[in-house]
Amino acid sequence: MLIKIKKGWELPESSVTSESTFLNRRRLIKGLAAGPILAATAGLVSGCDGESTQTAQAASDDSVEQDPSAKLYPVQRNLRYRLDRDETSEELATTYNNYYEFGSSKNIWQKAQALSIRPWTVKIDGMVEAPMEIGIDDLLAKVPLEERVYRHRCVEAWSMAVPYSGFPLKALVDLARPLGSAKYLKMVTFQDDSVASGQKASWYPWPYVEGLTIEEATNELAFIATGLYGKPIPKQNGAPLRLAVPWKYGFKHVKGIVQFEFTDKRPVSFWEEIQSSEYGFWANVNPEVSHPRWSQASERVLGLDERVPTLLYNGYGEFVADLYSGMKGERLFI
Ligand code: MTE
Repeated sequence: MLIKIKKGWELPESSVTSESTFLNRRRLIKGLAAGPILAATAGLVSGCDGESTQTAQAASDDSVEQDPSAKLYPVQRNLRYRLDRDETSEELATTYNNYYEFGSSKNIWQKAQALSIRPWTVKIDGMVEAPMEIGIDDLLAKVPLEERVYRHRCVEAWSMAVPYSGFPLKALVDLARPLGSAKYLKMVTFQDDSVASGQKASWYPWPYVEGLTIEEATNELAFIATGLYGKPIPKQNGAPLRLAVPWKYGFKHVKGIVQFEFTDKRPVSFWEEIQSSEYGFWANVNPEVSHPRWSQASERVLGLDERVPTLLYNGYGEFVADLYSGMKGERLFI
């Protein structure tokens, strides 16, 4: 992958004041050699669209066939969530990925096969009535599974549209019975650098963390994806469970989740810790609010040669705009 780093945006070291900002910036600079998010910076991420191969598909199929949840899929599609475009091909969506735990290129699908997804225990804790640990297959037996076709808009200004199977995040919140004082849901990815070599890169703040408000987590659109294209979700896409919040930029869609923690403190997410001026807590899609280093007005649709205009809340405003009414002081779109 071609990565060329544009230097113009970098601040002189002397303008950095606090120690934490300084340390974050050191991490960022060291990580620059690697980052697609950062490479998009210069608009120079090379097109990897052609990299998918028969082999990639076969490997993915092998892996999902061995998945004990395979018998659960396909599940019925929920037609309430419709697309304004064609679905992205399965090959492309499963071979063009962001998963820094396995490396910083888009082509990590093979490396991700090293992740073992059984047994897989999910911890649900923090400000809840009864903290619990539950195996993924027991969790899957307790929640209503359905398929939803969602648009996915990466902060790097590419997009796709994919059929996820899974369950509303609200079902997990109901299972957890959070205390009234819980304001946020923090979600944490697995950590094991013996299989995820990207986690050996100590300048990143592992593990990957993301967060939502409780209101966002219980919004009908917030979804936990456990399947993709009518099969268990492949490892490179976040098996055995990942978040899908389609009105937010893709970096919010945390993969390989092992913990859901209810808390009264706003979680600082992985990318926010690295560079909060560019990757904030809210990260709602808005074509009129540029990323500090590139425009968000349009997006490259994977598999197509054309760019299309980006939509406010990625086209999901009717479901989520009310969540943010009256939040004037917040940076809702970074
Ligand atoms: N989750 C973890 N744990 N690690 C990551 O690097 N990348 C995010 C998100 N979830 C990421 C992650 C980003 S930047 C994007 S765009 C989406 O995953 C990509 O999801 P996909 O590969 O299924 O398209």
